Amino acid sequence: MNLLQLEDVGVRFGGLRALQGVDLEVKQGEIFGLLGPNGAGKTTLFNVISGLTAPSSGTVRWRGASLAGLSSHRIARLGIARTFQNLRLFSSMSCLENVLVGMHQHARQPPLAALLQTQSFRRRESQLQQEALALLDLFQLEATAHQDAASLSYGDRRRLEMARALASRPQLLLLDEPAAGMNPSEKDELRELIRRIRDQFKLTVLIIEHHVPLMLGLCDRLAVLNFGQRIALGSPDQVRRDPAVIEAYLGGGT
Ligand SMILES: Nc1ncnc2c1ncn2[C@@H]1O[C@H](COP(=O)(O)OP(=O)(O)O)[C@@H](O)[C@H]1O
Ligand SMILES: [Mg+2]
Repeated sequence: MNLLQLEDVGVRFGGLRALQGVDLEVKQGEIFGLLGPNGAGKTTLFNVISGLTAPSSGTVRWRGASLAGLSSHRIARLGIARTFQNLRLFSSMSCLENVLVGMHQHARQPPLAALLQTQSFRRRESQLQQEALALLDLFQLEATAHQDAASLSYGDRRRLEMARALASRPQLLLLDEPAAGMNPSEKDELRELIRRIRDQFKLTVLIIEHHVPLMLGLCDRLAVLNFGQRIALGSPDQVRRDPAVIEAYLGGGT
């Protein structure tokens, strides 16, 4: 079954068509890549899926049901989490606290229990803390658990943002340029890490990234956007050989 389905999605910003007639089907468990030059509409597509931008036309379906009119909070609670191209961490909070914020979005405790600091509340809190530390460990951030997010390297902040998104236990994870600012060895590790979290958390991953070798090596399927339109779709091999892609994006010969 398609987990996520976009039908004829269009977004207009005044006279600008940021997306036009985009069809996309993402299957459960796949790592699906979105490639395209700057301004192609990739982030806008994420914004539509996560409910931050209402499409001007077309439909987004999650497990067959339209997401039209749902707030971004409702959509997050359905199991769709994302990272942002411009990181949105709480910079003066520790790494651990950042992940705990993500967790509390799905593990709500009754406010009165929090106020009274009941025994079950404290037990649950310590369990959440253990889970948060395990997530940080997975992203090799355990040593910085108690440091402010602002003190981390750029690559570490990117990983922290992924850990925080995962903390809400999503079924679909949207990653907007997770490798930006990472060095080559961090990029290699990222590829393995994304595969590992897909398997471990039974995730479906939709990823935007400019680093073409990383994307071709990581994704099961990819779509290529150019000027808001989907110009190619297929396996890494199909996309690599697609003349429209070579023309628009890969710059020939790559
Ligand atoms: N909120 C907005 N208002 C007006 N124009 C926007 C807005 N968001 C994006 N755009 C424009 O839409 C186009 C697609 O942007 P974006 O989705 O960010 O591209 P990408 O992520 O592929 O680089 C760009 O021309 C951008 O300037
Ligand atoms: Mg973008």
